[in-house]
Amino acid sequence: MTATQYEKTAAYSRFPRSSAYDLDWMMDQAMGPNPLWLVEFLSEALQLESGMRVLDLGCGRAATSIFLAKEFGVEVWAADLWIDAESNAERIQQAGLSDRIHPVHAEAHSLPFEEEFFDAVVSIDAYHYFATSETYIGYLAKFVKRGGSIGFVVPGLVNEFEDDPPEHLRPFWYWDFWTFHSPQWWRRHLERSGKVDVETADMLPDGWRYWLEWNRLYAELKHAPDEEGRMLEIDAGRNLGFTRCVAKRVESAEQERWLTFSPG
Ligand SMILES: C[S@@+](CC[C@H](N)C(=O)[O-])C[C@H]1O[C@@H](n2cnc3c(N)ncnc32)[C@H](O)[C@@H]1O
Repeated sequence: MTATQYEKTAAYSRFPRSSAYDLDWMMDQAMGPNPLWLVEFLSEALQLESGMRVLDLGCGRAATSIFLAKEFGVEVWAADLWIDAESNAERIQQAGLSDRIHPVHAEAHSLPFEEEFFDAVVSIDAYHYFATSETYIGYLAKFVKRGGSIGFVVPGLVNEFEDDPPEHLRPFWYWDFWTFHSPQWWRRHLERSGKVDVETADMLPDGWRYWLEWNRLYAELKHAPDEEGRMLEIDAGRNLGFTRCVAKRVESAEQERWLTFSPG
C-alpha cells in the first residue's frame, strides 16, 4: 500500500481531517476500525469548542484523544482500562500534547472524577463493552455538566435481529457481538432513563465499506488475516455498520422524567 493508493480510497476523501494523519501511525494506534474516521464522524454531530473538558472513555491508545485535542483545541482526559496510562503518556508526549491530554487508567464503572466535571464525553468503539446495562447512563451522566453531551460510535446493526443472526453471519458470529445494536435500540436504551435526551441516533452511511476498506488496508500493510473483512463483504451492509449516538444531559433535575432514589 503506497501513500498514493491510500489517497484514492473512499475513506480518504470522506474523512478529510483524519487524512492529514500518517497511515502507519493510525495503524499502530488503532485497536479496531480506524478510530480517527469514527471520531471525525462523531464530531460532525457533537459540538466541540476550544477549551472544553472532554472525557475520551475507552480511548485505547489515545489516538482519538490526540485527534480531539489537535483538531478542536479541547482538553482531554484519556481514560482506558486495558491500556496503561504510562504508555499513553508517552504517545501523548510524542504528539507534543502533554499539557492538553491527561492519561488515566480507569474502569468505566468506577471513574475517578468529580461530578459535573466534563463538558462532553466521547467514546469510540468502546461504549458497547461497558454500557449496555440500563443503569450505566445514569452513572455516566453525573460526570457531565447539565446540558453537556455524551456521544459515541460503536459497531452496530441496521436493525435488531428478532432471533439468531441471519444465516450468512452465523459462521462469523462471536458471542459478544450481541453488544452490537441498532440506532433505534440505543436511542430507546438511553432515552428511557430520563437522564438524557437523544439528539442523534443514526448509522454512518456506507459505514461497512469504510470498515472493510480499513481491514483491507490493515491486512495488506500488517500482513494480517482478515476474517472480519470476509464477514463484512458477505453482509454488504445489510446488517453491519457503525451506530452513532449523541445525547444531552437533561438541563435540570426537575426536568428528568423519572424519580431518582436518594437514600435518607
Ligand atoms: C476495541 S478497543 C477501542 C480502543 C480505541 N477507542 C480505538 O478505537 O482504538 C475498546 C477499548 O475499550 C476499553 N474498555 C473496555 N471495557 C472497559 C471498561 N470497563 N472500562 C474502561 N474501558 C474499557 C478497552 O480498554 C479498550 O481500549
